[in-house]
Amino acid sequence: MKRDDLTGSALSGNKVRKLEFTFAQALTEGCDTLITCGGLQSNHCRATAIIGARLGLKVHLFLRGVPAGLPDGNLFLDHIVGAEFSFYPREEYYARHSEIFSELAEHYVKLGRKVFIVPAGASDEIGLWGYVVACKELKTESEDLGFSPDFIVCANGSGGTLAGLVAGNIYHNIGTTVWGINVADDNAQYFEAKIRNDLRAWRERYGQDLDVQTPAINVIDGYLGPCYGKAEPVVFDTISRVAKTEGIILDPVYTGKAFHAMLKEIENGRLSSANNIVFVHTGGIFGLFAQRHEFRFRND
Ligand SMILES: Cc1ncc(COP(=O)(O)O)c(C=O)c1O
Repeated sequence: MKRDDLTGSALSGNKVRKLEFTFAQALTEGCDTLITCGGLQSNHCRATAIIGARLGLKVHLFLRGVPAGLPDGNLFLDHIVGAEFSFYPREEYYARHSEIFSELAEHYVKLGRKVFIVPAGASDEIGLWGYVVACKELKTESEDLGFSPDFIVCANGSGGTLAGLVAGNIYHNIGTTVWGINVADDNAQYFEAKIRNDLRAWRERYGQDLDVQTPAINVIDGYLGPCYGKAEPVVFDTISRVAKTEGIILDPVYTGKAFHAMLKEIENGRLSSANNIVFVHTGGIFGLFAQRHEFRFRND
């Protein structure tokens, strides 16, 4: 397991990998305000808010959903690091997505601020560098441990981690196969197209030598469960099992679903041929607290 749940800025998981490059770009352009978006329990928004606080930049989050009761999990952390918020019901959030970005940007420009827009999950050609760099680490670490990964597996939410791993596998000549498990939307075709587009934009922006049609984009559907953010009881059982046997904490939205899917695919599916698999633990611990009522607490 690649312990990217332990990256910097308050356990920011895979997000800090991408945001390292996103914030660098924002600072290079002289921006002082970042606007980004996600669900109420978005790990990406929380990571952006924390890094913004650390670097002294304002962060405005526009969030999908209407909060009820005291803020919990990621939303609680967003509050304590001083993010600004706008909340939109699901339909409006999707229907007016780019309009909302423009309205918020205009508002800050009028206040004399310089705005940097961060797309959902920081999943674009800038954030893509995060997992290209992570692959270098992963290569060195697996060499030090004396194995080469047959497969690398990660949760796929907005495509950025998977895109970076695909590019990093080639860039650092790892020679593995990367698999992303869809946890937000069963739509492998959409993600294949999005990831090829992001690879193309990365190649063009940074002058990389990459044939974007060549790498396989392996996205596994079928483990979404009821919907994004909700998991079946078997996923909570897997989270409990991994916690008890390894002392490693997965979450129900991303890593728990993906880890559960990986076990199923090792048992009798697309991953059954592997000897060595690296699961990239992309973080998400705070989202677990918002779902603690889903666990069956037992005395056994
Ligand atoms: C904990 C966690 N794991 C995995 C992912 C998926 O990463 P990506 O959005 O880059 O596909 C996310 C975010 O979406 C996340 O917050």
